[in-house]
Amino acid sequence: MRKTKIAGIGHYVPDNVFTNEDLTKYMDTNDEWIQERTGIKERRFGTKHKETTTTMGTEAAKIAIERANTTAEEIDFIIFATLSPDYYFPGCGVLLQRELGISKTEIGALDIRNQCTGFVYGLTVADQFIKSGMYKNILLVGAEMHSMGLEFSTRGRNVSVIFGDGAGAVVLQPTEEEDQGVLSSALHSDGTKAEILSLLSPGSHGGHYHENPEEFGFPDPNTPGGVFITDKILENGFHYPFMDGPSVFKKAVVKFPEVILETLKAIDKKPEEIDLLIPHQANLRISQFVQRALKLRDDQVYNNIQKYGNTTAASIPIALSEAWEEGKVKRGDLICLAAFGSGFTWGSCMLRW
Ligand code: UT7
Repeated sequence: MRKTKIAGIGHYVPDNVFTNEDLTKYMDTNDEWIQERTGIKERRFGTKHKETTTTMGTEAAKIAIERANTTAEEIDFIIFATLSPDYYFPGCGVLLQRELGISKTEIGALDIRNQCTGFVYGLTVADQFIKSGMYKNILLVGAEMHSMGLEFSTRGRNVSVIFGDGAGAVVLQPTEEEDQGVLSSALHSDGTKAEILSLLSPGSHGGHYHENPEEFGFPDPNTPGGVFITDKILENGFHYPFMDGPSVFKKAVVKFPEVILETLKAIDKKPEEIDLLIPHQANLRISQFVQRALKLRDDQVYNNIQKYGNTTAASIPIALSEAWEEGKVKRGDLICLAAFGSGFTWGSCMLRW
């Protein structure tokens, strides 16, 4: 039966290392707090005019394409997952196509907005295209340039200290090998508390979901236009990400193990049979909690948040790529990719490398 394999993988992170100490120049925070609550020591920030979400994704994609022994011209579909796109629209998929110089092939490009779960959602969508025979060489990219949109002040510190920039990419191809490829996946969401981890403006909500729409400074409801960015939005910081961290944490530590067990059950496997779990790098404490809940050994879980912070849609492909480069992912290994984040959305994929 045809399945989907990762034929090539690569990642790119900016050279610019930003330590916890560096953050203290902009906000009231300290290395001890950040390390104790998140495990993060440093992160990478892109350089303006030099790097964007798309250009970082392009660098990662070039490596993945080379390692898959293929060429950009052979790619027949693009999927790009990010919450920090270069433009509000069009999405990064077409920009990546342009950067790779393959616009002439006129292949489709799909943009995914599932935040931290973007890569798992993207992989599951790609898997259906490949299994159905529609495409044979899909380029899936997760990339984020968070630093352009974070609030570097004490008001935004609970969010700003967590996030970092980077990109990861995979080339997905069909395989007929019995012991290889994506084996199971599960995708979930619960939008009842969508604003708990959100960036509200610019957006078309017009204050609709809010008790006090005046906070957004919207003009007379009957006057069209002029509502994307108002003085009040800037003043109240609704153009920056907002997170109720403890609520996200509490839900994450329940849903991560739950969805991993769901995808394990689908293939009749147990946690002890996982060779490597790559959890979305949201917070080292969350990963450790998941590890304990599933009774996994240290060598069964890969974490690199200490170096990169939370890179949202990029975190799983960056970690998978690093683990592969370090020889921790080998042919035949049972790999679990799992994520939870804004939406809320969460999901997991089990694959045999
Ligand atoms: O990938 C997307 C999904 N996101 C997540 O999974 C994030 C989940 N949540 C978390 O990781 C944690 O909730 C955080 C790391 C964001 C925060 O840790 P916490 O232990 O939940 O802290 P808290 O928000 O409850 O804040 C505790 C205290 C507060 O001070 P008071 O009210 O106790 O005086 C905050 O104002 O820590 C303060 N604080 C900080 N202090 C120093 C918040 N941010 C900082 C900071 N530096 N950066």
